[in-house]
Amino acid sequence: MTPDTLQLLFSDKQIEQRIRELAGQISADYHGRHLVIVGVLKGCFVFLADIIRSLDLDLTIDFVKVASYGACRESSGVSTLEKDLGTDIRGRDVLIVEDIVDTGETLAHLIEELQKRSPSSVRVCALLNKQARRRAAVAVDYVGFEVDDVFVVGCGLDFDERYRGLPGIYALPDETV
Ligand code: IMP
Repeated sequence: MTPDTLQLLFSDKQIEQRIRELAGQISADYHGRHLVIVGVLKGCFVFLADIIRSLDLDLTIDFVKVASYGACRESSGVSTLEKDLGTDIRGRDVLIVEDIVDTGETLAHLIEELQKRSPSSVRVCALLNKQARRRAAVAVDYVGFEVDDVFVVGCGLDFDERYRGLPGIYALPDETV
């Protein structure tokens, strides 16, 4: 499938603008504090690279990896931490950076895991929020865009490891997934 058969939802310009707005809000909220950014691999890498360059804050950046979708649209519902943090987050302000929150189960598991380490605070920033499919009660503090119940790719998001490099965000036709 070529990008022409995908349906554009948000252009690179719209994403750039929205990321600037989010970064302004986060910079104001954490003004004068040191923030530990925890990126959720792999999908976060494009969004994270963009947003950190617009944050006017003192930052530490680290990554975790949880179970991935592979070639299937459905989450397994079970998330294991495949890659852990190398940073001690005790007493620190943590901001989890996600590509998309779908059922919320990955995030719920991750928050529970991080809370055991006694951080000062944990908030979540996601480029996309798919509220319609939420199963776990998780608060997403900073949301780039709301999306309907469609499978999306681009800007770091994949389908079977494809499309991560597309600069915009696209819906994949239903028959593909
Ligand atoms: P959740 O546990 O169902 O919230 O799943 C979150 C993870 O599933 C995200 O970090 C993505 O890696 C993946 N995911 C969920 N929806 C999509 C999508 O529409 N496109 C690509 N990946 C998705």
